[in-house]
Amino acid sequence: MAIPERSGPIPADANATRDPPSLALDEAQDGGSRVVLGARAVLLRGFARERAPALIAAIGAIAGVSPFRHMVTPGGWEMSVAMTNCGAAGWVTDRTGYRYDPIDPATGRPWPAMPETFAGLAAEAAAEAGFPGFRTDACLVNRYAPGARLSLHQDRNERDFEQPIVSVSLGLPAIFLWGGRARSDKVRRVALLHGDVVVWGGPDRLTFHGVHALAEGEHPLTGTFRFNLTFRRAL
Ligand code: SIN
Ligand code: FE2
Repeated sequence: MAIPERSGPIPADANATRDPPSLALDEAQDGGSRVVLGARAVLLRGFARERAPALIAAIGAIAGVSPFRHMVTPGGWEMSVAMTNCGAAGWVTDRTGYRYDPIDPATGRPWPAMPETFAGLAAEAAAEAGFPGFRTDACLVNRYAPGARLSLHQDRNERDFEQPIVSVSLGLPAIFLWGGRARSDKVRRVALLHGDVVVWGGPDRLTFHGVHALAEGEHPLTGTFRFNLTFRRAL
């Protein structure tokens, strides 16, 4: 993930201005189980819903070892999304830049191992989206509280862009911002609901994407949070 750099001080929510002004969604909410986002990008509606309780329990175990924290961008801005990781390497950002690190800087120890439930889901969703044989080695766990957001970015710290991204939504709904290959491309707004999985790869691998500021809410399994699991092949 590459968070856009800023030259001067900005308030924490200043890049909200980069989002389209309306909260209206571009997707019909009654659609089928697949929403096509691109030639090689698809939203698998509800793909992870049945196993969501197990995934959420596993997030709790991961956070017990490597706690959620608000990382700082190279430009010095604290991210509104709280993050942790599991797997062989974790995505981190600090004043020195973005990287995958086998050691959690907050604990000085390796990240928690990737649970089987995670790796299996990532492989199944990737295969369902046309990317058979996906073996994830890094899972970024994002926690959104109301107001937390992720500005438009590309996931580009991974070694091999032939490998897809698999992104799982849990808990409170969010509005996904799905752009194009250039930051200035038109952005589509798509609802991401509990249990949804988005997979993108091939020519869509470097698509700009982000998450609109989370709305207040209460979810039976995650309370006042939304969680996102982003599976990558990082190394
Ligand atoms: C990300 O791009 O890392 C997260 C996307 C999401 O939270 O849905
Ligand atoms: Fe991303």
